[in-house]
Amino acid sequence: MTRFEALKAREEQLLCRTYGRYPVSVSRAKGSRLWDIDGREYLDLLAGIAVTSVGHCNDEIAEVIAEQAKKLIHVSNLFYQEEQLELAEKLLETCHMDKVFFCNSGAEANEAAIKIARRYQQRVKNTDRYEIITFSHAFHGRTLATLSATGQEKYLDGFAPKTVGFVQVPWHDIDALEKAITDKTAGVLLEIIQGEGGVNCLTPEYVEKVQELCRRNGVLFMVDEVQAGLCRSGKWWAFQHYNVTPDVITNAKALANGLPLGCMMTTDEIARAFVPGSHATTFGGGALVTKVGSKVLEIMKRDNLAERADRLGKYLERKVMALGSPWVKEVRGYGLLRGIQLTCSDESAKKVWTRFIEEGVVLNLTQGTVLRLIPALTITEEELDRFVSVLDKLLKEISE
Ligand SMILES: Cc1ncc(COP(=O)(O)O)c(C=O)c1O
Repeated sequence: MTRFEALKAREEQLLCRTYGRYPVSVSRAKGSRLWDIDGREYLDLLAGIAVTSVGHCNDEIAEVIAEQAKKLIHVSNLFYQEEQLELAEKLLETCHMDKVFFCNSGAEANEAAIKIARRYQQRVKNTDRYEIITFSHAFHGRTLATLSATGQEKYLDGFAPKTVGFVQVPWHDIDALEKAITDKTAGVLLEIIQGEGGVNCLTPEYVEKVQELCRRNGVLFMVDEVQAGLCRSGKWWAFQHYNVTPDVITNAKALANGLPLGCMMTTDEIARAFVPGSHATTFGGGALVTKVGSKVLEIMKRDNLAERADRLGKYLERKVMALGSPWVKEVRGYGLLRGIQLTCSDESAKKVWTRFIEEGVVLNLTQGTVLRLIPALTITEEELDRFVSVLDKLLKEISE
């Protein structure tokens, strides 16, 4: 039995079987490189699922973790903590929002959004609105409420009944959205760029119309930027590619470069919905993770990572399309959130994904035939070139 096989067998015994693992056991990482337990190197185009945006084991981040760990890690939200305020100020500089709520994950950020929408409607506006409208192929998390917001059957399997108060409409269909809005609708929750759903984008007309419909009907316009936010799309926030000002933004993944931290941001008006005791978390926004978050934002701003993501994303798209492969239909997305839509069967796409790992390249395959690229925003052109040359080789291996 190899070391890897032994590890797999141990896991079978010890952990709940919730994950379909990649056939790699990572023991260390740096920048956009991973090394497995046998010392084999991989190019990482996944970045912990769009998390380690300033690179694995970034030296500056490691230094902040070490320093802060000796000063203060956690005291709970019963206390004032300067570290939270420092990060909140940095986050609010990037957009039109006024207030932040910190939590631990993307799902919790969306829970906070759902809760503030309901409470704003019920306690500030004195209505009985509670429904949240979401979109087909959405992904908002795995708690019971965010799973109902996600609405995809494959994730709901065996967890019936669905949480009440969620309505789903087809993606990019304004008439369907208009029909779904009623006097029970509290908010609309939209991923401006769908990640897990296959890297799907929206037209400016559609996004602006969604906001207009929300405003006209007294419904909160909420954007889930858990994956697309924080420079990944080529701007601080994906909604900034459009002429809109959402009422609520949620974010997590990149915020503390691998430590668990999420946030929900909103305006002063909507923040009136929360009073002491209406929402809380024990761990959310502790001193260690928020200090790291501040460093992440400092690096993103100092190194112009949004502009870099925009430039490298376009570079990658050009290079992939220049291969002229009949197996590539298109490259979708913004910045370094990219989906390469293959034209082959799911089976062949899975083979391509497996071959990438054999060739030492780690990336994600979503919705059957979409190679999703969400690398660190610090990835280099040379590293992207390596990916493109392996892609070229593997596309030539497809035989159908
Ligand atoms: C758009 C979006 N929202 C929410 C989530 C859930 O985040 P978490 O897994 O941190 O709960 C994800 C995770 O992939 C996501 O991509």
